[in-house]
Amino acid sequence: QDTSPAQLIATYEAEAGRAADPAAGAAFFMADHTGGKPETPSCTSCHTRDPRSPGQARTGKVIEPLAPSVNPVRLTETKEVEKWLGRNCDSVLGRDCTAAEKADIVAWLASL
Ligand code: HEM
Repeated sequence: QDTSPAQLIATYEAEAGRAADPAAGAAFFMADHTGGKPETPSCTSCHTRDPRSPGQARTGKVIEPLAPSVNPVRLTETKEVEKWLGRNCDSVLGRDCTAAEKADIVAWLASL
């Protein structure tokens, strides 16, 4: 554990050059995107529409909730967050998430 949700938000905000927008993070998370793998159009494909609840990987393996309010280890390890956002944004969008998108997503998850 080398960081906190608040620190991550601040880092991504600085990189993006604008404040995080949690509502935009929620909209991004719920949306169907194009450009990625057809079987994973959305973050909700694996994490459900409620990040306070467990999700399911495509293998069927349970994914513990993303919301730090119910799963305090979330958003506390920079390497872990970067690794999974890298992998997941590529699956869903076919590209990396921008710093602004990451700021919004983390701010929303931290607000739940
Ligand atoms: C982990 C967000 C889409 C499967 C994570 C983490 C974040 C995240 C922030 C790491 C949290 C932490 O440990 O601190 C997102 C977002 C998505 C998305 C924003 C949409 C762009 C997906 C999809 C899948 C998926 C489509 C399935 C194909 C996973 C798995 C983990 C993970 C397996 C790691 C499991 C674990 O640590 O228990 N996701 N995710 N995610 N995500 Fe996603």
